[in-house]
Amino acid sequence: MPARPRGRIGRPPPVEEPPVERIYAGRILRRGRITPAEIGVDGDGIIRRVAKDLKGAPRQDFGEGILLPSGVDLHVHFRDPSPPGAVEDLSTGTVQAALGGIAAVVDMPNTDPPITTLARLEEKIARIPARAFVDVLPYAAVTTRERIPLLAPRAAGFKLYLSPTTGDIPPPAGEEVPGLLTEIAGTGLPLHVHAEDPSSFAQGKAPREPREWDLARPPESEESALRGILKGPDHLRLHVAHVTTTKAAQMVREWGGSFEATPHHLLLSTSRIRNAMGKVNPPLRTEERRRELWEEFRAGKIPVLASDHAPHPLGEKETRFDLAPAGVPGVETMLPLLLERVRAGEIELGTLWRAASRRPGLFLGLPWGRIAPGYEANLLVVDFRQRRRISARSLHAPCGWTPYEGWEGIFPVEHHLRGERIVEDGEFVGRRRGRVRRPFEPESPRRPPAAAQGPRDR
Ligand code: NCD
Ligand code: ZN
Ligand code: ZN
Repeated sequence: MPARPRGRIGRPPPVEEPPVERIYAGRILRRGRITPAEIGVDGDGIIRRVAKDLKGAPRQDFGEGILLPSGVDLHVHFRDPSPPGAVEDLSTGTVQAALGGIAAVVDMPNTDPPITTLARLEEKIARIPARAFVDVLPYAAVTTRERIPLLAPRAAGFKLYLSPTTGDIPPPAGEEVPGLLTEIAGTGLPLHVHAEDPSSFAQGKAPREPREWDLARPPESEESALRGILKGPDHLRLHVAHVTTTKAAQMVREWGGSFEATPHHLLLSTSRIRNAMGKVNPPLRTEERRRELWEEFRAGKIPVLASDHAPHPLGEKETRFDLAPAGVPGVETMLPLLLERVRAGEIELGTLWRAASRRPGLFLGLPWGRIAPGYEANLLVVDFRQRRRISARSLHAPCGWTPYEGWEGIFPVEHHLRGERIVEDGEFVGRRRGRVRRPFEPESPRRPPAAAQGPRDR
């Protein structure tokens, strides 16, 4: 805000900006170029100034390092609460997020027990401050219409499962869906949808590998589920989870909704992985479909990248394919894998930043995903010369496996959450400062600010 001239009668004094308490110096992405810049952050961890040269506070100089806004992951399963013996919780999940460059996660409600009532939602919310190392948006599951207004005052958003998947949340009957969509639209909160229509699933013998899983839950079941959802009211704040085909992407885009692709649907296919490590809902698709999806992502036509981090115990993934649970871990490896694609020259850094950080921030309406005054100082330091080979042993997932064993990744060297270092030299050094967050709530329900739709928003 420009300072007003002082000393004139009748003018209020200038509004004092909170002082800059620390300065980050390095290089940032600005209008598609990497340029030197300095970032001034106040005592609350909010960016106050961005300029060529700042003075008057302690500096951290990252030299050639690139400062990027942290990722915002709209889709994780941190399995909290779950019965004793589970391989993930909010602590272990948010440590992996921090190391993978993610400063905030949308945590899904298909826990054990599932988050279907206000009492369970409140218990879940109470667990977050004592456990989380990054910010968490707790979502509630959609069951009946009556429960939606009860959950809405506390939930960060809703998740609707249209088909059975991990967890015990039965999909609603088809005729209930329009009423549910109207009710949710009225709350102004986001609705994330798992869009698979079980009536389009193939019946037959038990699938034995990802190729057969793809045939059993084919792309048509996604399109069929979407046809139902896209009849929802115009002001529904819709985000479609894990879109696997360009056809499905086009349907949501034309409707004007937000949607995500996952790293596994972008990087893995039925010909690249043959065992239950590649079992996931919706299924991995053929190599040809994967390539088409990747081309759209590369072109900036897929608004959001989200991990769908779904850690299942190694023992369960090593059983018979048809008995193994569906889901793959990915919150720690998502950005590193994609940053490596940037290094290899396959995708632009700006395209990745928009999908992993800027558009999820916009969709939620929270001050995330930009290096600009007023935004939270959630920052990564990335050095494209520092590649690391991914292995389950070097990752921090208690589930103990990754479908990306042996792949190369570029892990953030540093990660700062609201101005405080949580990763240093690639090692976790954070404190439990994660907050419970809710998306921006407009006074009257409407779609979110330009809901992360076009590839051109900056
Ligand atoms: C997820 C899980 O395990 O929680 N599994 C999966 O295959 N993606 C649930 C889901 O997102 O459907
Ligand atoms: Zn899902
Ligand atoms: Zn999921």
